[in-house]
Amino acid sequence: MQSPTHITVQGGGPLEGLVPVGGAKNSVLKLMAATLLAEGRYVLSNVPRITDVDLMSDLLRATGCTVARDGLLLVIDVPAEIEPVAPYEIVEQFRASIVVMGPMLARCGEARVALPGGDDFGPRPIDMHVRGLQELGVEFETAHGYIHARAGNLQGARVLLEFPSVGATENLLMAAVRAKGSTVIDNAAREPEIVDLCELLNKMGARIVGAGSSMLTVEGVDSPDSLHSANHTVIPDRVEAATYLCAVGITGGEITVAGARHEHMIMLCQKLGEMGMRISHDPGGIWALANRRLTSADCQSLPYPGLATDFKPFLVTLLASTAGVGIVTENLFSGRFRYVDELRRMGADIRTDSHHAIIRGVDKLSGAPVRAHDIRAGAALVIAGLGAEGETVVSDAEHIARGYDDIAGKLNGIGGKVSYR
Ligand code: EPU
Repeated sequence: MQSPTHITVQGGGPLEGLVPVGGAKNSVLKLMAATLLAEGRYVLSNVPRITDVDLMSDLLRATGCTVARDGLLLVIDVPAEIEPVAPYEIVEQFRASIVVMGPMLARCGEARVALPGGDDFGPRPIDMHVRGLQELGVEFETAHGYIHARAGNLQGARVLLEFPSVGATENLLMAAVRAKGSTVIDNAAREPEIVDLCELLNKMGARIVGAGSSMLTVEGVDSPDSLHSANHTVIPDRVEAATYLCAVGITGGEITVAGARHEHMIMLCQKLGEMGMRISHDPGGIWALANRRLTSADCQSLPYPGLATDFKPFLVTLLASTAGVGIVTENLFSGRFRYVDELRRMGADIRTDSHHAIIRGVDKLSGAPVRAHDIRAGAALVIAGLGAEGETVVSDAEHIARGYDDIAGKLNGIGGKVSYR
């Protein structure tokens, strides 16, 4: 199905009721890549209907797998032989495709992966993936827009990451699963999506300890037969959940984000509480109440368990209409403030200076035509529209469908007025 190119939002509020959160985009894409490690049938549950899953499905098909969807189930059949190539036509459309490199190397001893494209927010190098894999004995060559990675024998090693990169940790984990001896990844990323990946890998026969800490130890399994297929349920998407929590902060109201896991987003809930929202949780989800104008707070993006960079566009949007001045600092992606120009078109008072944004809350944003530059920026403009006076039309909305399964339907379910065009 073609993704809608425009989303129209009528300002209003409050938001009231229960909104379900889907499976995590940034988990399911890596779980799908992990299936390349061993032949067999995999059934993934709670798989969101988003474009990036379709793209990763195409990528798996290009290697020889069969991928079929049945509602929120994804059934992947991985053949005895796979083609270790990630073609440019697919890779250029989404950066997460780089994580097939680790499992391809582990399974076939080589990987040919087109150099990645992806979101429009600054340079996004893969030097840490490359350096880490070199420690495991991988040799790299780049030609004609492709990286050709080769490893006669993957050899376990100690890898110290310069920064806890999510993608580099994932590639290293999946390669190390079949390396000879043990691999230690120090300064590893600690995100819940990494823990989810380790869980699936261990179900498949891998031997990983330390998931969720910054030190991961992987005991390589010797023979390909020691790995096998497995079934898995994808964890809830904490970034989608954050979108709805910030939306209610903007419009006022009382919602429950059903299925959201508080333990995955403690820092955000703490920050929203500091701004004046009431938040509580139980095993069914996160409850949030905003019954007065919120007050500003300073925020900075940091690797997990810090405030996720993916939350930041929602926080900047929220601060655009809170009382006072908030400073938001981006520590991960240098170019990730492009949506600020769009918020200014809606009347926001925001000044950016290198990786800081200084936001003076205005009484009310005003609806306007705006453009989505990436998934999260697009979703932020939709929730900005909910809190604005009049109509907002978000163009290039197909970016949003990369990571959100029916954002309009879900927001309408709690009283929003959002439609596709
Ligand atoms: N970096 C390097 N060299 C590398 C790898 C990363 O310099 O080899 C830098 C990046 O440029 C960035 C920082 O390290 O400045 C963090 O990058 P990281 O590798 O952690 O991010 P990623 O794996 O490319 C994932 C998510 C992003 C999310 C980041 C940070 C997926 C598919 N993407 O990206 O999610 O922002 O982690 O948490 O998992 C999104 O969902 O919209 C999204 C962009």
